[in-house]
Amino acid sequence: MTPLPQISTGSAPGKVILVGEHAVVYGQPAIAVPLNNLHATATITSAGHYLEKLVVDAPGIALHTSFNKLAEDHPLAAAILETMRTLNISEAPGGTLRVHSALPVAAGLGSSAAITIAIARALAACFATELPATAAAQIASAVEHLHHGSSSGIDPTVIAHHAAICFTKNKDPEFIYPHSSLELVIADSGLTGSTREAVNAVRKLHSDSPDRFSSIFAEIGALAFSARAPLEAGKHEMLGALMNANHRLLQAIGVSTALLDALCAAAIQAGAYGAKLTGAGTGGCMIALVDKSGAPEVQKALLAAGAKSASITTLESTTR
Ligand code: PMV
Repeated sequence: MTPLPQISTGSAPGKVILVGEHAVVYGQPAIAVPLNNLHATATITSAGHYLEKLVVDAPGIALHTSFNKLAEDHPLAAAILETMRTLNISEAPGGTLRVHSALPVAAGLGSSAAITIAIARALAACFATELPATAAAQIASAVEHLHHGSSSGIDPTVIAHHAAICFTKNKDPEFIYPHSSLELVIADSGLTGSTREAVNAVRKLHSDSPDRFSSIFAEIGALAFSARAPLEAGKHEMLGALMNANHRLLQAIGVSTALLDALCAAAIQAGAYGAKLTGAGTGGCMIALVDKSGAPEVQKALLAAGAKSASITTLESTTR
């Protein structure tokens, strides 16, 4: 395959988990939605041949180097290599790969999967090759596996399909079609949370008290199962109550923090239907489900309670 002498772009959204993180690693269902306003993008400016080396430019992480100087397990190199393997590309194109992401790193919004999929799409475009969503998800899962150890695959799947999903590990995703739009306020606690460390800490607790943790995971799974119908029907009060219950169970497995708890309490006090941490926790972001008209009030309350940032985002309704 020969790279095209052109500028090729790929992009991918961030995501939030509405219900079910951590338990999803143990086979329970979880619900995740894409973020329409926060994306990662990758742009390849290719000379159309292999003779030039590929320069990787990622200003967000102060990286500017040639691809062949990166360790194979560097997240950006791994994204390129895994895509080349999947698409049978024998050599990286000559030129420049620029990576930009509006997603905070290690904050539970899917930054690593979004960056990998953006790179995979840019490379596929550069070689004029199709990259189906399932293949993009597999590439991001392989890269995630390298860095996060055992992961469920929920992030790569929701991001690659850019659709609301009910996800169970090792199964095809079930797509969800919310009848009315969903308004969320996403607040960043400003502290990073390592997915690998959080997942490992939960695994240790689970192996120390298997019965207790299996039963908590089953409760979380039941919440995710119950959340699907109110999400589709636009019953946001009911969905909010399930999110609150999910946050309490995430506290019980030790992945919340005092600040995340305070942010959830502040959001509810300001009128949110429900609030919870999102993603691996131990830092990172929380989400509050709100009414469109009440969103600015909740945003203000989150900033006053110590959030580093708080943004309002809408998941538009979709039809089958
Ligand atoms: O990487 P994060 O913060 O988006 O968390 C992913 C969700 C977990 O359930 C904690 C891990 C997984 O692989 O599902």
